[in-house]
Amino acid sequence: MGTGVLSPARPPFPRLGGVLHCGSHSLEALADEHGTPLYVYDGDRALERLSTVRDAFRGPELLVAYSVKANPNLALLDLFARAGAGADIVSGGELYCALCAGIAAERVVFAGVGKTRDEMRQGLESGIRAFHVESAQELEVLGALASELGREAPVAVRVNPDVDSPTHAFTRTGHARAKFGVSPREALALYRRIADHPHLRAVGVDVHIGSQVREASPFLRALDVILDVAARAGRETGAAIEYVDLGGGFGIEDPVAGELDLPALGREVALRLQKASRPLQLVVEPGRFLVGDAGVLLTRVLYVKRSGGKTFVVTDAGMTELIRPSHYGGEHAITRVREGRQAPAEEVDIVGPVCEQGDFLARGRSLPLPSRGTLLCVHQAGAYAAAMASNYNSRPRAAEVLVHDGRAALVRRRERYSDLVRNERP
Ligand code: LLP
Repeated sequence: MGTGVLSPARPPFPRLGGVLHCGSHSLEALADEHGTPLYVYDGDRALERLSTVRDAFRGPELLVAYSVKANPNLALLDLFARAGAGADIVSGGELYCALCAGIAAERVVFAGVGKTRDEMRQGLESGIRAFHVESAQELEVLGALASELGREAPVAVRVNPDVDSPTHAFTRTGHARAKFGVSPREALALYRRIADHPHLRAVGVDVHIGSQVREASPFLRALDVILDVAARAGRETGAAIEYVDLGGGFGIEDPVAGELDLPALGREVALRLQKASRPLQLVVEPGRFLVGDAGVLLTRVLYVKRSGGKTFVVTDAGMTELIRPSHYGGEHAITRVREGRQAPAEEVDIVGPVCEQGDFLARGRSLPLPSRGTLLCVHQAGAYAAAMASNYNSRPRAAEVLVHDGRAALVRRRERYSDLVRNERP
């Protein structure tokens, strides 16, 4: 097992007649109509990826809880809701978005080390599937609130399995020094407290080891840990554990390596669940795997500039639209939307207009030199691109277009200058 699935069955954003398309829509036409920078999402691709996840984990009863943080656009959430997916949320805002889009509350799981009382109340009142509790103090606050409201709070303890995952330090969450989850030992102590509390009920055991993980073995080590916690919580505290949640983080292909072999991981997971002492539902929380390669960022070249022995391609998108290259060393393929006369390849930095030296989309890329006005496509910008966009340098956020069922729809309009100041009072 391991990595190595290099080509998706149907590559999204195919080149037709020399021009990149989303479904039957030319990206050039979409950029002309809506301006740049522009995010374009392929809804059919996102749903195809949801099926890929369901196929990979077929066998156990399955809940795919889409990790809203990857891309909270309501149109995407609506597609997932209609397809019966749930949601993994980490804030009251994400709960609001998920419910707005019609995701059923009983398919929503709520993680995060810093849930506020108000957010817990929101979760309790809407009847979510479970709170993924990450500390003893959090459990105490949830228990007190549930008593006050006369409700029962469903709980899964998020276990920190002390598993290292080969990914960027900022997206590695399963090692003991990370802020996430509690040790298996502390988890058992929390299950005891839950058993003793009249308004808390243990329903699951949760883990999430990181993001963009392309090897199966860390997931399996983490699963072994939570299966053991589930069995012991049942034996030692009488908890009736209904599910184990393996988290998200399934790595997708990037210019450096292939994607996680999800079917192979799914087979191993099913084998382990079959051996569990009671039937357990499986929850998975993919974000990037569902929407990462279903989105692109279109940007136009403003200027080409040579200085200090370097060549800079200055684009109208930068770290405000895609922070991944500068923040995580993320590598995103960048190609021309229209195949052009092939200038000889040169090594260039593709940089944005933001006044920061750390503002770049790619560094040291070998590229046939584009010219002013060339439309470029930044690939795999469906996840953690628009979701992490900012108004830094007072730049209005870009528009978002969703292509689905043959139609291209503007699903978020470009912000106007008035949006920049709408919450301010002079
Ligand atoms: N579940 C939990 C509890 C999470 O914290 C996350 C991501 C996921 C699921 C989904 O992970 P995914 O399947 O999307 O990898 N901004 C970073 C990624 C941060 C991920 C945070 N948590 C990036 O652009 O690489």
